[in-house]
Amino acid sequence: MSTVKIICYSPTAGGKKLSKKIAAHFQAEIHDITRAKAREAFDCAAALKSARVLFFVCPVYAHTVPREVKKFLKRVSFSGYAVPCVVFGGVCGGRALAVLAARLKKCGASIIGGIQASVPHSYLSLSGGAAAHGDMDAALTEYFPIIENRVKIGESIGSKAIPKKINPLAYIAPRLRKRLSVALPAVNRARCNGCGQCVSACPVDAVTDELHIKKSKCTRCLACVKYCPQNARKLYLSKPLLWYLKKYSTDKGITTY
Ligand SMILES: Cc1cc2nc3c(=O)[nH]c(=O)nc-3n(C[C@H](O)[C@H](O)[C@H](O)COP(=O)(O)O)c2cc1C
Ligand code: SF4
Ligand code: SF4
Repeated sequence: MSTVKIICYSPTAGGKKLSKKIAAHFQAEIHDITRAKAREAFDCAAALKSARVLFFVCPVYAHTVPREVKKFLKRVSFSGYAVPCVVFGGVCGGRALAVLAARLKKCGASIIGGIQASVPHSYLSLSGGAAAHGDMDAALTEYFPIIENRVKIGESIGSKAIPKKINPLAYIAPRLRKRLSVALPAVNRARCNGCGQCVSACPVDAVTDELHIKKSKCTRCLACVKYCPQNARKLYLSKPLLWYLKKYSTDKGITTY
């Protein structure tokens, strides 16, 4: 197929897994924009110059697309075909895929599909309690030729073809609720070896060189917990959130449009 590019924002690597599967099928290059520096340095014209199809992969946060992704997309201009892709922790994808499709359309792209894939919820994975998820291979193997055919005949599905699942409760003070239910992953100095992996893993530059976390910047993505080799940063979830995730986070498979 014509040149395919992938842009991926994935603090805890669920979306990276999906990006790699897309890359392997289409022999596509992945532009990883997870780190703040990579987003700042992204040269849209150069990176997407030869691209006809763009897969954009990001997670679902509070039923929508992360703020950093929305901000990044304001700088992107692309007039080819786009396939928005979101990964979610098996609770609910909400309106994230529809929002991503609408944002990509605003960048100038023609929407020719969409992928919403359930992956183990990062909060449960990091506390050792995520439900097992099947792989996405069979669904993707069936889906990729559909995309190839749409590109061949120039068929757009339009951003409105992707439904929104609206849960009004998800939009009531999501940042405040996150702050109340997920503790800042402070460093345990007795375990820390000063390697700095948490500083470089943080997608929003919230970890200072002295290893403190800037409360106002932290999105509670928990990349710093995941990538700390010493287990020096721990995840603390409130009991109601842990109960909720254990009850509702299941393998909801993969939905394609
Ligand atoms: C701040 C935050 C909010 C989240 N909100 C949702 C949600 O609304 N629904 C859901 O199913 N999963 C939710 N998740 C789970 C993520 O979508 C899931 O862990 C995904 O793997 C994260 O993508 P990444 O691994 O590529 O960073 C949330 C995770 C975080 C960190
Ligand atoms: S400091 Fe906050 S935003 Fe940065 S990696 Fe840790 S949890 Fe994510
Ligand atoms: S990643 Fe862990 S061990 Fe390394 S500096 Fe950060 S807290 Fe310390």
